[in-house]
Amino acid sequence: MRVISVVGARPQFVKLAAVEKGLADSGLCEGIDHLVVHTGQHFDAGMSEVFFTDLAIPEPAVNLGIGGGGHGEQTGRMLVGLEEVFINLRPDWVLVYGDTNSTLAAAIAAVKLHIPVAHLEAGLRSFNRRMPEEHNRVLTDHASDLLLAPTENAMRLLANEGLADRAVLVGDVMTDICLAVSRANEAAPPPLPGGLPLAGPFVLATLHRAENTDDGQRISELIAALASLPDPVVLAVHPRLRSRSTEFGVSLDQGSLHPIDPLPYPLMVELTRRASMVVTDSGGLQKEAFILGTPCTTARTESEWPETLEAGWNVLAPSASDVAAAAVRPLPTAPRRGAFGDGHAGRRVWETLRSQQPPA
Ligand code: UD1
Repeated sequence: MRVISVVGARPQFVKLAAVEKGLADSGLCEGIDHLVVHTGQHFDAGMSEVFFTDLAIPEPAVNLGIGGGGHGEQTGRMLVGLEEVFINLRPDWVLVYGDTNSTLAAAIAAVKLHIPVAHLEAGLRSFNRRMPEEHNRVLTDHASDLLLAPTENAMRLLANEGLADRAVLVGDVMTDICLAVSRANEAAPPPLPGGLPLAGPFVLATLHRAENTDDGQRISELIAALASLPDPVVLAVHPRLRSRSTEFGVSLDQGSLHPIDPLPYPLMVELTRRASMVVTDSGGLQKEAFILGTPCTTARTESEWPETLEAGWNVLAPSASDVAAAAVRPLPTAPRRGAFGDGHAGRRVWETLRSQQPPA
């Protein structure tokens, strides 16, 4: 059985690491030819290469080198490139991850060639139709033959859209890797970057979503809110935030802020665990903070991971003043409910793929 995993953006490399680990753990390696195709959506070494190295992911068989451009152009160029790859490599399954333009392009390219598509992290919804990720999720779920869902809630949302008979609950693959890396960090802590105020309480922050970065007033208010926090704020700067803040003349080096380049995954896990608060608009980081027991403030109006909002471990902060208030709230005391699986979702992905009859 030949399976092609299509990835392109940073969070997909983390999910791919869990899928690779799951394949090794499943004992199904023999008879499975797993190839990785990288669209090139993320291309900076710190956004891509370092993840392959740190998380021991095999080199992609193909890298299409398609980064940048508008949504239509980027997705369209990927669709053209992936179609050719799938025709040449004739996979039995195409496995797509999450909600990026790379996910949607791969799902469309495969379905049009009648190649079965499995969508990992299916069934997440924000119900915010202004988010590019929401279009990508909904369209990919409906184009796919097999929906690998991370949570009971995702299963319920898929059923609401008439997709229950294609859905299988496997658990959350990012939890697999977060737990594995956190255990490895405990055994051999990664060296911390110098020049940062990490000895006392600190906030770890990231912002990258189009809704937060593409409007000059919004980005300037959010950055000012972070800069006004009483504790130091380590701000890991995504390329989109870097370019938009420059464009809008917003300094990332003001008040409490300590801007740094994007971090390798093991270091990100370590800083998330050590931080007294996380402020983010990333889906993955909200969940990692929850898993590692660090309270989180989410600079958005909704979350695809509502389980993190129970008991106050994660709080939605729609406006910049909400962010400033929520980031200094008292620590939650209620216990966290383990909603994201047991750390073996990657193995179940392969068991499920193996057990499926390819769709007619
Ligand atoms: C994409 C995903 C988003 C995901 C995020 C993780 C879509 C629609 N969005 O958003 O869901 O949460 O990745 O990071 O697919 N850039 C660089 N170097 C890089 C990567 C990007 O300079 O390595 C630049 C791009 O050229 C572009 C901007 O950053 O100007 C945004 O990149 P893009 O891949 O379009 O979207 P993200 O904001 O990263």
